[in-house]
Amino acid sequence: MPKRQIIKLPDPRLRVKSAPVAEVTDEMRALLDDMLETMYAAPGIGLAAIQIGVPRRLVVIDLAKDDELRNPLFLINPEIVWTSDDTRIHEEGCLSIPEYYAEVERPDRCRVRFLDRQGVAQELDCEGLQATCVQHEVDHTNGVLFIDHLSRLKRDRVIKKFAKAARRDSEGSAASDAAEPSA
Ligand code: NI
Repeated sequence: MPKRQIIKLPDPRLRVKSAPVAEVTDEMRALLDDMLETMYAAPGIGLAAIQIGVPRRLVVIDLAKDDELRNPLFLINPEIVWTSDDTRIHEEGCLSIPEYYAEVERPDRCRVRFLDRQGVAQELDCEGLQATCVQHEVDHTNGVLFIDHLSRLKRDRVIKKFAKAARRDSEGSAASDAAEPSA
């Protein structure tokens, strides 16, 4: 199970709408395992396949705390089929937008329809952090990032900052005098 590289803003692949998985094969399960390992290593609580550059509708989530047993959730072709009117505000982050956090308001509860690792259709009612996380990851499969839920001013500022950091990285050591934190 090799760990994969996580792509970061402003990589244009993060804006791609991922394609559904036609069949849950061993190859897909191996990909899910790679995603899980990559997410645990980051560390993070959710990861969509596009974040490792694979445009497939696959999501892994594990909300277990450090002192709890791992409890991975695999969502294949996830689709939000219902959301509550009541909302919650959560300070979100994203492994593709490292070290940036902002409050996002989303429905407090949702129902997600998906295929599990065996390819069996399931529905799960989520609330609280799990609901936030599921919605954040399903957004990824549609090319949507959590910063899209912020004001345009805030979003533009983040995008600009990451674009600048990416330019600086590609310029390499020549930019070492521009000593600004990369996050
Ligand atoms: Ni994310």
